[in-house]
Parts: sequence; structure tokens; C-alpha cells
Amino acid sequence: MLIDTAIEQDYEVNGFVRNTANFFLTPILNRLPKRVFIGSSRKAKTVHEHVTTHTALEVIYSFNNELNFQKGVLEGLTTYFWQTTNSAKALRNRLKLVKKEVDKAISSLNKKKITVLNLACGSNVAVFEIVAKYKNILSIDVFGVDRNEQAIIDAEKSASGFGIGNLFKGCRNTISGFLNENKHLKFDIVEMVGFLDYVEDAKAIELFNQIHSALKEDGVFITGNVSDNPERRFITEVVGWPRLIFRDEKDLANLISSSKFR
Ligand SMILES: C[S@@+](CC[C@H](N)C(=O)[O-])C[C@H]1O[C@@H](n2cnc3c(N)ncnc32)[C@H](O)[C@@H]1O
Repeated sequence: MLIDTAIEQDYEVNGFVRNTANFFLTPILNRLPKRVFIGSSRKAKTVHEHVTTHTALEVIYSFNNELNFQKGVLEGLTTYFWQTTNSAKALRNRLKLVKKEVDKAISSLNKKKITVLNLACGSNVAVFEIVAKYKNILSIDVFGVDRNEQAIIDAEKSASGFGIGNLFKGCRNTISGFLNENKHLKFDIVEMVGFLDYVEDAKAIELFNQIHSALKEDGVFITGNVSDNPERRFITEVVGWPRLIFRDEKDLANLISSSKFR
């Protein structure tokens, strides 16, 4: 197992000024009435209405770190502020990290034909961007599983946008359902990010065992978990993101080592 703790140049990090400001602003953020956050901008409302889904994540992933006053000065400022909270930065950093790990896995496998399984895929941006990079060099098939029909529709559109529509097979199913019904399929890479955060320990171990069986002998499993942080109340109570189970590196490592991955 690999735990990536590298702070790379392209990750979003806070400077001294933002860190100091956060010391005073985070307690205020955590106590903000929900309606103030929802009413602050259209994007905030979209995130609130679509919490736990790829639609909410897309709003955060697509932020370009620039102030945008097209919808007014106040909306521009508030959007910039919550889009640059540690939680939003962490989600965009996670996306970069997943892309990096998928890329690393594809090149380290050193095979001509690779099959990738993306569980709880959402619109699958991280995997598609990297697969598109290799599409003329390798033969790659990507399976995307999500129980939400709209996620599969959006993933199909996204695959076409990356020019790899023909390589993608979207499956509307639960993760357990898919793994149970497709025991004959074996994958080189399994990516499951943004899902473990909702799964209790016993279920997570069961899931890891199913994934272990779905991987080829030299296969790579990429996963992650949101860890507890000072913006916890803002995320769960103000934005309204429900049922998050926070785990740090040690918790996740213990969980994985309780499964067949050891
Ligand atoms: C927070 S999103 C993560 C999307 C994507 N993996 C990412 O990190 O950008 C969680 C996704 O899990 C899907 N989901 C939730 N429960 C599921 C289940 N039991 N089986 C398959 N997908 C599920 C949701 O529909 C949603 O698209």
C-alpha cells in the first residue's frame, strides 16, 4: 500500500495570509446559518442541492481559482471564499492525486492491454483524462459503475468529450451488485474514490475483499477517504453533506490490512 504525502507544486495549498485568516474565519464559517451559504450564490445552491453526487463535485472541480464578478460582486466574492476553503481545495487536490496515481499505475503495469474499473464513478473525469492520454498507444477499456443513472449519462458524455466514448462501458448498478454479477471479469486497475467516506468499517472490508477478487494478480487499487478537519461542521451542517465517515491514513491503512489486501 502507498500513502502519498508529497506536497507537489501543482497542489493547492494555503499561504501565510490565508492560514492566518482561516484561524479567525473557520469558526465563523462553521457557525454560518445554512440559508446564508445557500443564498450566497447559485453554485452554493447547486452544491447544497446535489450533495454526495458528481454534480456537486463538478462545481468544485471546475473552479479555476479566479474571482468572477459576472453574477455580481457579492456573489463573486462569496463563491471565491468558499471555493478556496481547505475542503474545496482538498477535493481538487484529490482529483489531481487520483489522475497522478492512475497515470502511474498505467505506466507501471507496462502492458499493451489494460482494463480499468471505476467504482462510484460519477462523471469519471480523473480516469478519462488519463486514459485519453494513452488512447493511441495502448488498448484500454474503462468500466464505470454508478447507481445513479444521471452519473452514467454524464460519464458517457464526458468519455465522448475526451474522444474515448468507444472505450467506455457505463454500468448503472451498485458496486456490490456489479462485483457480484461480474465475477468472471478481472481488472488491472480499480479506482474507488469518493465512496468509502459513506461506508461503515465492516462493509468497507467486505468491499475491499470483493475488489481484491476482481483485481488481476498484479492489479492496482486506488482509493481514499476524507479525514476529519477543522471545517467539519461547515461541510456537514452548513453545506449539508450528510453521513460522512472521516478516516485518517492510519484508519484507512488498518481497514485495508484487515481485508485480503493485508
Ligand atoms: C461523491 S460522488 C464521487 C464521484 C467520483 N468518484 C469522484 O470522486 O469525483 C459519489 C458517487 O457514488 C455513487 N454511489 C453512491 N452509492 C453507490 C453505490 N452503492 N453503488 C454505486 N455507486 C454509488 C453516487 O451516485 C455518486 O456518483
